[in-house]
Amino acid sequence: MKIDLLIHNAKQLITCASPNGAKRGQAMRDVGLISNGAVAVSDGEIVAVGPAADLRADYIARETVDAGGKVVCPGFVDPHTHAVYAGDRAAEFEMRIQGASYMEIMNAGGGIVSTMKAVRAASVEQLAAETRPRLDAMLALGTTTVEIKTGYGLDTASELKMLQAIAELDRTHPADIIPTFLGAHATPPEYKNNPDGYIDLVINKMLPAAAEWYRHSSFVACHSPFFCDVFCEANVFDRAQSKRALEAGLKLGLAPKIHADEFENLGGVSLAVELKAVSADHLDVTPPAEIEALAASNTVGVVLPAVNFNLGSAHFANARAMIDAGVALALATDINPGSAPCPSMPLVMALAARYQRLLPAEALNASTINAAHALGLGDRLGSLEVGKQADFLIVNAPDYRHLAYQFGVNLVDRVFKRGRGIL
Ligand code: NIG
Ligand code: FE
Repeated sequence: MKIDLLIHNAKQLITCASPNGAKRGQAMRDVGLISNGAVAVSDGEIVAVGPAADLRADYIARETVDAGGKVVCPGFVDPHTHAVYAGDRAAEFEMRIQGASYMEIMNAGGGIVSTMKAVRAASVEQLAAETRPRLDAMLALGTTTVEIKTGYGLDTASELKMLQAIAELDRTHPADIIPTFLGAHATPPEYKNNPDGYIDLVINKMLPAAAEWYRHSSFVACHSPFFCDVFCEANVFDRAQSKRALEAGLKLGLAPKIHADEFENLGGVSLAVELKAVSADHLDVTPPAEIEALAASNTVGVVLPAVNFNLGSAHFANARAMIDAGVALALATDINPGSAPCPSMPLVMALAARYQRLLPAEALNASTINAAHALGLGDRLGSLEVGKQADFLIVNAPDYRHLAYQFGVNLVDRVFKRGRGIL
């Protein structure tokens, strides 16, 4: 049979295959390794995966790529980012080194609101231009699909401007981008001390405008989902406010996501489970009962260890207990100018291995197939299985475990998106 592309001579072909939904428990230790494997691709989709000898006999390829005895694995999916922003917060970084906490800086009018000011002052073109190098860095580090949240506009026009920048980047950048509306990220100065009034604005004006934008966007044509997120946290939005915003999103067809339990437990995970959210993210202080509830649900738990690391904290989400309880666990960078200026999924895997005791296999499944499920895209992305989008990497290592084992180095040698070598 004739095909477009055959990748062969992968010493380890890592499929992360999981035909029946996200991986949980023991399955997270299995990366679906095929020794001396090959992948056959046609029309941007995977048509066969297996031992190189079999595929070489079965297929005639227009292009053949020798993986050179390296590792071939799925492209990483980064399911939680705030990659679109303007400016930086290097000054806050210095303040934290000198003892100020992330929440103190935020409550004093810095933090998210300081980035809001820079974003409100920027044009769509400026936002896209500032973000593009970040996406380039992420792609070079192996990330082929990126979720990006709004949440630095905090008024209707500025949130729409962020959505337009996200659409422009999706159109012009090789990475696939999935948009999330995060109007309820912080209370802007106009609504100071009136978070309920701001949530009313989110529900009555911003969400309908965002849903209308989506209906006319290019994301509909390519069947990309559109999510609604909220920062459920002490001094930000409480559980009731978060619930109101997420339910309003649901009514407009936006599936819920939630920032929960980053600093204080407000019951955000139980809310996520109640609303059948696609994911619940952060989970740094989630109590055991809510970990159990998450494990019994289809909501993916997304942990973000680059945040803890960046905030100089020794406390990390108890991802080990989550996996052992049966949570479908994913990893993400959370790249943003405040809590995680980090584009690298391999660094996140390295942190998860050391501070959260994930095995390299668990970290890799959490960055691929389970991360795709955290975007509701587990049937299309995140593993090397027949029928899936041909997004994969050639990794310059003899063994997939090096992805978490080595750090401070980029092992990603080549990046293929829809069967095309783009790097
Ligand atoms: O996921 N926690 C809230 N939002 C982001 C941080 C955004 C920022 O500090 O600019 C997060 O960590
Ligand atoms: Fe976040």
